[in-house]
Amino acid sequence: MEVVIVPDARAGGELIAQSIVDLLGSKPDALLGVATGSSPLPIYQALAAKVAAGEVDASQARICQLDEYVGLPAGHPESYRATVLREVVEPLGLTEASFFGPDGSAEDVQAACEAYDRALGEAGGVDLQLLGIGTDGHIGFNEPCSSLASRTRIKTLTQQTIDDNARFFDGDTAQVPRHVITQGIGTILDARHLVLLATGEGKAEAVAQTVEGPLSALVPASALQLHPHATVVVDEAAASKLK
Ligand code: F6R
Repeated sequence: MEVVIVPDARAGGELIAQSIVDLLGSKPDALLGVATGSSPLPIYQALAAKVAAGEVDASQARICQLDEYVGLPAGHPESYRATVLREVVEPLGLTEASFFGPDGSAEDVQAACEAYDRALGEAGGVDLQLLGIGTDGHIGFNEPCSSLASRTRIKTLTQQTIDDNARFFDGDTAQVPRHVITQGIGTILDARHLVLLATGEGKAEAVAQTVEGPLSALVPASALQLHPHATVVVDEAAASKLK
């Protein structure tokens, strides 16, 4: 695992956006796995700026989701489909046709999970998967004690994650969905390159356990230790508990 410490979130976003530019240079139709939440926003902003400046042709890029809430009405602005369209697909000048994710409103959720794993395989696998990290060490929504071999499936959010995500729902924990479809840890590990961005002191403990702790299902992000090409980009605050 490669750990890169940058001065701030903006520098992290710039660095990772550049690695996506490099990837698109060698593979214009690369499949990018994208995370939602606050952490990756500087990446998406930096990448959109590079596209606008003509530094990269992203027109053939393909985008796929890491996870999705279960049970939000279609088109809800906080569904991850709507979020990725707003924050990634549209700013990059792409259309919905270049983007796919798990169906969080499917009647048969189990079938939707299996279909998503199949779709990822049929698309040739994820070239670069962007990840954030939860304060409890989750990646995707693989909460502590998730199987390190897990595939895409439905998970129940922990109270800590519900509290953390309430800020996207007017601060009201009651509005936060309790369930999500998430790529499993095994699914995430199938990507050819994993890039995790963590910023802020609130992530310092989870980062330290991910990078320096033992491989453990209690800290799902520690599964990155198993991957041959994992990059962890942290700002100084998130790096503050590294030895
Ligand atoms: C979101 C996701 C989550 C977030 C994590 C950190 O698609 O998979 O694992 O990356 O909860 O969220 P932020 O970045 O908002 O702190």
